[in-house]
Amino acid sequence: MRHLMSPLDFSVDELDRLLDLADDIEKNPARYAHTCDGKKLATCFYEPSTRTRLSFEAAMLNLGGSVLGFSSADSSSAAKGESVSDTIRVISCYADICAMRHPKEGAPLVASQKSLIPVINAGDGGHQHPTQTLTDLLTIRSLKGTLGSLTIGLCGDLKFGRTVHSLINALIRYPDIRFVLISPEELRIPSYIREDVLAANNVPFTEVERLDEAMPQLDILYMTRVQKERFFNEEDYVRLKNYYILTKSMMELAKEDMLVLHPLPRVNEISVEVDDDPRAAYFRQAQYGVYVRMALILTLLEIDVSKPQTERNLPC
Ligand code: CP
Repeated sequence: MRHLMSPLDFSVDELDRLLDLADDIEKNPARYAHTCDGKKLATCFYEPSTRTRLSFEAAMLNLGGSVLGFSSADSSSAAKGESVSDTIRVISCYADICAMRHPKEGAPLVASQKSLIPVINAGDGGHQHPTQTLTDLLTIRSLKGTLGSLTIGLCGDLKFGRTVHSLINALIRYPDIRFVLISPEELRIPSYIREDVLAANNVPFTEVERLDEAMPQLDILYMTRVQKERFFNEEDYVRLKNYYILTKSMMELAKEDMLVLHPLPRVNEISVEVDDDPRAAYFRQAQYGVYVRMALILTLLEIDVSKPQTERNLPC
């Protein structure tokens, strides 16, 4: 049984197969409509979410399965003090696979160690967000045709932005990737990414503060929200929250085929006037999130989609 805690849990070959499957799901959705008949996905979300939880639920419903779960710690027995380990043992009796989001780094990993079903890390604190990374990889591959030879600007809250940490870890495995890390001094990338991932793997990167100066060289601009919920005081958040605002006039500095990605939710960091620019790909990115989560569910449940329906999902 496999879990997904980090994008590095999959080899590059496995990732390629997963993205190929997601690609086929996008093109031939009807072929997959009953591949998870009789299966159940539990979504255990101890932190707020719109995209991740609902795209997981849409993914399982698209595959013919069912969903159950909770959307806040307050509406589960965590509010009475139940541990994640006990919760997952119980969920294992009710569902075939679980997607878990938790404010504490490592909580989904703890759950996976006691679980009888595959556990997917749907975001753990400021640490990792592997299914957002799968979404980002599928979006880039689908819209750019490649995951290599790209200059990628990561802009905003690089300190607390878990999507950025996961994406860097995943992209350094592809050839000729360069990063431009765009942030204010206080929100720079943590040293465990700068030193242990980028420098240790000789990945070219620069750290800059000005978005306008970085724009002309970028193939991808990955904007991020300042993570209010991870700040220790409101004052710092208020001072930094509007540090970057991508506007239509700033888009004039960018390449004609640059893509703007954002894991969403957006607050102020991309002006709504940019939404109509054909290079704005963040809503298409959210759609790719459904396809890739469908592919992930099939992969972790080890469902052989090449077999006829009658030979799949037999009761154990
Ligand atoms: N991208 C993302 O994780 O969005 P949600 O917080 O809405 O799930």
